[in-house]
Amino acid sequence: MKRAVTVAQVRGLLAELRGAGAGVSFVPTMGGLHEGHASLVERARQAAPAVVLSVFVNPLQFGPDEDLAAYPRDPQRDARLAQEWGVAVLFTPSSEFLPAEGGVRLDPGPLGGRLEGAVRPDHFRGVLTIVAKLLNVVRPDVAVFGQKDLQQAVLVRHMVRDLDVPVRIDVGATVREPDGLALSSRNAYLTAAERADAPALQRALLVGEAALLSGQREPGRVREAIVRALDETPSLHPDYVAVLRAEDLAESSLAHGPTALLAAARLGRTRLIDNRIVDVGGAS
Ligand code: PAF
Repeated sequence: MKRAVTVAQVRGLLAELRGAGAGVSFVPTMGGLHEGHASLVERARQAAPAVVLSVFVNPLQFGPDEDLAAYPRDPQRDARLAQEWGVAVLFTPSSEFLPAEGGVRLDPGPLGGRLEGAVRPDHFRGVLTIVAKLLNVVRPDVAVFGQKDLQQAVLVRHMVRDLDVPVRIDVGATVREPDGLALSSRNAYLTAAERADAPALQRALLVGEAALLSGQREPGRVREAIVRALDETPSLHPDYVAVLRAEDLAESSLAHGPTALLAAARLGRTRLIDNRIVDVGGAS
């Protein structure tokens, strides 16, 4: 595995890889690597064999009261895992990678202000600005994002479409603990009691999924079923529950085709997010 810290270094390594004829795939992360990232790396490799993995805890996507200082960081462990997973280039930019203060930032449009964006103003502005920079530097053939951050994946697709960025965006399935909790670097914050309650978020989404699969097509009714299920776990404080068209997270009067069930809840000092995508006649 080759390592790069500066933009010049990563560009040099990528020129070598491309010169050798390798297709390049890319998995951007904020570190705290876990099996969810491993599955994205594997998916990336199947799309294009030379996998670039970046680790950058992006301050632009954290609000002033959020967990930037406490965010799990273990560069040595991340590097060891990246090596084990067969990553070709590990890119770990320093804070010099940040765009100039007061300089250009990307506007995510109206979707950036809804759901996560309603709770975390400027979050997606920070995400898209740094993802655009990473894509511009790495110039991969395909970039892989996790379905757990569904709104992020949809917004990255919108950015790539609207700015004609020459990359294919692929989305990998959420990896879960045996009890259904979606893997996340932030799960490390949960106390034992909170960890026991955390799978209730996914269970509530499954209640919504069951309602859809048994024929309920009114998004409001499906949403109510999820909210009622969440109410059974008083330690979970929902920020939002939504039933939307999966492709673009638009509202529709009746659910049809791939439909996203999304929820976010606070549990102690941790925020959990999760989603399921349900198709009429199937689920993922
Ligand atoms: O999903 C993440 O880990 C981050 O939001 C990303 C895409 C690496 C941008 O900082």
